[in-house]
Amino acid sequence: MGKNKLAKFEENLGFKNLFQFPATILPWEAPLRGHWQEGYYGNSNPVVLEMGCGKGDYTVGLARRYPDKNFVGLDIKGARLWRGCKTATEESMANVAFVRTRAEFVERVFAPGEISEIWITFPDPQPSKPNKRLCSPMFLERYRKLFPGGRGIVHLKTDDGDLYEYCLHEVVEPAGYEILASTADLYAEETAQSEAAAVQTFYEKRWLAEGRKIKYLAFRLM
Ligand SMILES: C[S@@+](CC[C@H](N)C(=O)[O-])C[C@H]1O[C@@H](n2cnc3c(N)ncnc32)[C@H](O)[C@@H]1O
Repeated sequence: MGKNKLAKFEENLGFKNLFQFPATILPWEAPLRGHWQEGYYGNSNPVVLEMGCGKGDYTVGLARRYPDKNFVGLDIKGARLWRGCKTATEESMANVAFVRTRAEFVERVFAPGEISEIWITFPDPQPSKPNKRLCSPMFLERYRKLFPGGRGIVHLKTDDGDLYEYCLHEVVEPAGYEILASTADLYAEETAQSEAAAVQTFYEKRWLAEGRKIKYLAFRLM
């Protein structure tokens, strides 16, 4: 393991905005589960979750734009999360938190009804493991339970055409979820004003520089 990574892990221990949980199947529950609003953010504003947030660009970017909402980014990789934690700490952003755990454990971190909206930004496409896709029916069922009354909006941004088609045609349409936005080229002239284009993640900037098209899908679970 690189020295740089170890230094980041060490610094992660001191961040007040980072909550780290075991990547184990042994039972555990986040102490803030069910109490994130008053217990961490100190308000009753809606909590927006980013799954697989990596360096947290989207979580931090949205939090800057929407100070009246709370944001939390979840990822398993501590060295990536370090970047978001550091930026949010340096900017004294009280509406940002990060969680280090496996996405599969999201219900151990948040209680039913605790999350208002979910962003899935450039998830690993997992071509041979559909159930591991962060937009698979298994994951969507987990997310549904986190929304108040089971109703809430999920946003997917991806450069992967197969993943976009899978989510749209094999998951969202068959389930009858209301589609709020769907584009295979987010930055095409007519859709460039979309809110989803306002913040770009680390991977998004890389794919855009390579000339790849960014796909965007927003739908309402119910
Ligand atoms: C391609 S990166 C995208 C990162 C970031 N959203 C971006 O756009 O820059 C995918 C991220 O998802 C995380 N990830 C993938 N599967 C995960 C899982 N099961 N639990 C937690 N994080 C996961 C990886 O650690 C990685 O940081």
